[in-house]
This record gives sequence, C-alpha cells and structure tokens, in this order.
Amino acid sequence: MIDTHCHILPALDDGARILDEAVEMARGAAKAGTRVIVATPHWAARGPSATGDFLRRQTAALGEALAANGVDVRVEPGAEVALTPSLLETAGPDTLPTLAGSEYVLVEMPTYLDWDLARRVFFELQLRSVKIILAHPERTAALCENYERAQELRAGGIKLQVVLPSLVGQMNRFIRALARRLVRDGLADLLASDAHDAAPRSVQLARARKLVDKLGGPGTFERLTVTGPASLLGIDT
Ligand SMILES: [Fe+2]
Repeated sequence: MIDTHCHILPALDDGARILDEAVEMARGAAKAGTRVIVATPHWAARGPSATGDFLRRQTAALGEALAANGVDVRVEPGAEVALTPSLLETAGPDTLPTLAGSEYVLVEMPTYLDWDLARRVFFELQLRSVKIILAHPERTAALCENYERAQELRAGGIKLQVVLPSLVGQMNRFIRALARRLVRDGLADLLASDAHDAAPRSVQLARARKLVDKLGGPGTFERLTVTGPASLLGIDT
C-alpha cells in the first residue's frame, strides 16, 4: 500500500506524540503491507510547520529513525490543509505543501463548513492552479446530505480520497454509506489510512480489501491503494 494520508510525524498534531510512537506506527504499517507513507500533519499557515522545508526535514529525520530501527517503509513529506476562507489570504501552488513532491495538495473540509462557501474556496484555489485531493469527503456533512455535490467536485477535477475508518465502519452510518457509494460508483480515487496512532491495522485492511473489491470489482483495492496513488503522485513503489 501507498498510504497517502497518515499523521505519523511526531509532536506536530493529534497524531504520533513522540518519535517512538511514529516508529511503531510505521512498523505496524509495514507488517500490514504498506511500503510508502506520505506524512500528512495538520497544517497551519503560520508557525514552525508552515513551510515545505520544515516538513521535508522532519520527514527525512523520521526516515533515518525508521532505517536505524530496521523498519522497511519509505516516508514522503506532505500535509493536510484545512479548507477555510482565510486560506485564500496566502494560498497558491507555491505556498501550500504538496504530497510527496507532486503537484497535489491534500485538503480537508471542516465537517460543517457551508457548502456555497466551500465551493467558492475550491474554485478560487483551482483558479490559482492548486491541484486538490479532498481528504475523506464522506465525513463532510454537506456531501453526506447531497451526493451531487461530491459528483460536482470530482467532475471539476478534484480527486477524492476515502479513508479506511469510514469504509469499514468506525464512523456513523451516513459516513459509511457515502464512503461505500463513492467506491462503488468509481468516484473514489484513493484510499488511505488517516492513521493517528499505532493501533494494528491488518484486520481493518483485510476487511477493506474484501469490501472494496466487492463494491468496485476485482482489483479496485489495488488501484486505490497502490497503482492509483503511484501514478497520481509519481511515486515509485
Ligand atoms: Fe487526517
């Protein structure tokens, strides 16, 4: 698996708290078959983690710690950017951190953000040549309420990244239903863990593989977790 959404960088957000926990997360991911993790801490426009340079340095340091601990997983830099109107004060393709050196920015919509406002911000970002992957669209109330909105985003060039906890049922039934519908209809482009801790994920992944291949047809899980992210982000596996 290429995990394109993981809160593994230590002490930056509500993910890994210390380096040892980050190493344990990677060790567990490796055991479950993950080869590449894009580290995506929650991003803030100001503060130490605001620059791509800082994120690349932190990711490289984690990579060294993984190698020193014999964990065979590659980590790539990234971030998860919250979609807010104030984002437009600074946002452009050169100011927002992208995933794994690609042109894509991982964006999350606050759960209850007004739909018309969200649409305007998406549109404005695209006008500024920002390429967008929307993290867990299924967790957004505006999209749960109206499926056509998700279709509209996808048709407008925004890639959709469903996350494992939504799909295999740890969230509520509305979230689960939308996650599954996006996979079934071929609107999901990526599937990622959104892991925040070192809880084992082998069982979750096995369940997801079965479910995703049933919903989208054989090979869908592989496409959403390996070949899709590899070609979209230009990642070697
Ligand atoms: Fe996240």
